[in-house]
Amino acid sequence: MGGNENQTFSEVVQGRKSIRGYLDKPVPRQLIEEVVGLAMRSPTSMNTQPWHFHIITGEPLDKIRKGNTERILAGEPDSREFRMGEPFAGVHRERQIEVAKQLFAEMGIEREDKDSRQDWVLRGFRQFDAPVCVIVTYDRELGTSDDTAFDCGAATTALVNAAWSRGLGCVINSQGIMQSPVVRKHAGIPDDQVIMKAVAMGWPDPDFPANAVYTPRKELKDAMRFVGFD
Ligand SMILES: Cc1cc2nc3c(=O)[nH]c(=O)nc-3n(C[C@H](O)[C@H](O)[C@H](O)COP(=O)(O)O)c2cc1C
Repeated sequence: MGGNENQTFSEVVQGRKSIRGYLDKPVPRQLIEEVVGLAMRSPTSMNTQPWHFHIITGEPLDKIRKGNTERILAGEPDSREFRMGEPFAGVHRERQIEVAKQLFAEMGIEREDKDSRQDWVLRGFRQFDAPVCVIVTYDRELGTSDDTAFDCGAATTALVNAAWSRGLGCVINSQGIMQSPVVRKHAGIPDDQVIMKAVAMGWPDPDFPANAVYTPRKELKDAMRFVGFD
């Protein structure tokens, strides 16, 4: 499971999917440098390059997993630094439910099985037990521009595609930064950076059921239109 360097761009983009189960196998530092280097070829507004990538493993990551879990179980409200907005409604909510249904079906988690559902949620807060977690942050002084989030999002998508092209799997996730003070403390994120998103990263476990999920996209005709064409 996963891509390789011989794949075309289309094969990488079409093949990539979010990975939520990982092999217990470390990821070489040099390989992470390579994929982050590729991601950083992304364009940015006025070439500001507002991003930072904090690559976390080992003890600090275990402390983040533990801190996140403790706070969630204690009923601590979310404390994100990157705005979440209103709960989804309409078609967006439907798509959210659809992917959850796909994941639960693959995992064999029944609708009424509250314990297993809770376990699944906690798995996300543990960064899906991945060997590596990348925390994406941006320079606080650029935080008043929406371009900053745009640029970091673009680079993060490039990052997961670059990782896939090297056989690695990732899942971009908000769960990892829901308790941002935990991340800030154990990852030592400086105050002049805002914590935006987490990316779990590692070698995909081909036997982990949820890794089989391949999410559909809305139809091209519903997303694009041509103007001024014949
Ligand atoms: C900004 C963002 C936040 C996400 N947060 C989570 C998350 O907290 N937990 C999770 O399991 N997946 C999360 N995902 C993964 C999405 O569910 C996934 O990208 C989407 O369903 C499309 O599936 P694919 O990545 O396999 O193509 C997130 C993705 C993005 C881009």
